Amino acid sequence: MVAEQSRSYVNQNIMKKYTDINDIKDIPKTIQEAINLKKTPFKYKNLGANKTLVMLFFNASLRTRLSTEKAAKNLGMDVICLQINDSWNLEFEDGSIMNLNTSEHIKEAAKVIAQYADIIAVRAFPTLVDKEKDNAELIINSFVTYSKVPVLNLESSTAHPLQALADAITINEFSDLKKPKVVLSWAPHPKALPQSVANSFVTIMQQLPLDFTITHPKGYELNADITKNTTVNYNQEEALKDADFVYVKNWSSYEDYGKIIPQDTDWMLTENKLKGAKFMHCLPVRRNVVVEDAVLDSDNSLVINQANNRTYATQIVLKHILEEIKTESKPLPI
Ligand code: CP
Repeated sequence: MVAEQSRSYVNQNIMKKYTDINDIKDIPKTIQEAINLKKTPFKYKNLGANKTLVMLFFNASLRTRLSTEKAAKNLGMDVICLQINDSWNLEFEDGSIMNLNTSEHIKEAAKVIAQYADIIAVRAFPTLVDKEKDNAELIINSFVTYSKVPVLNLESSTAHPLQALADAITINEFSDLKKPKVVLSWAPHPKALPQSVANSFVTIMQQLPLDFTITHPKGYELNADITKNTTVNYNQEEALKDADFVYVKNWSSYEDYGKIIPQDTDWMLTENKLKGAKFMHCLPVRRNVVVEDAVLDSDNSLVINQANNRTYATQIVLKHILEEIKTESKPLPI
């Protein structure tokens, strides 16, 4: 107990893992630290010396794959990346009889990988079929349980916390208002997509001094445990009135889990609807389905800035985790 207290006194912002927004103790402070880090990205080049980040991708990525490697290298870390595909099926169920197509259990795999890694980063999308299993975050939580090293979430079944931190940094950079109005608007998409980006965006927005509204058609309600008492307006036009930032994202139904409920295309974001507000999207985005060309090609689009901030969001989180590792490996004063 005494040891814990004296360590937390040293730095309130150190972290043991980052699988969820709520692993950040002080979000406004962390955003400011990331903005400072962006000005001097190589200042902590020695912090990650002789430390290795192992990145495991169960699903494809462009931004997360590259920005995470860049962030780790800015801190002087070594990086190993493994794309885990169908030819290497891991078993996650406890007590399963492995006589089908899984070749290795997570209990061994996580412990083996942890011998090569100081931090493990994992991307694993939801099934969008089994709601209970997806909500349990079996893959990422298994790495937390069995690897015993800090775990970084590169987008899991229910959360994309590094994207949300990058988005919050971007809003901070582009607003000098005391309380900007931010709207999260659902948009159409031909494929069933996870709720993870929306979930983490909602969670981080709730913790900042903002006027925050969610708008979507009926049937696309997010998990009520996440939205809590955030305003939901089913009328997009009303919700977008006087918005300073409009964050557009598709997600599949949470209630009718993983399904696309037939909708007309009226929810696509247009220049007329945006009315001069800043446009945000995590990318990749389908042009003229989610948002029209005129918005993406305008000066109001912040999508490239958001993607750039993925590096600094990840770098500040890795910095906090590396500081925790350093503190833990130091002998305590008697
Ligand atoms: N926004 C995002 O996570 O992009 P990638 O899927 O390309 O990593």
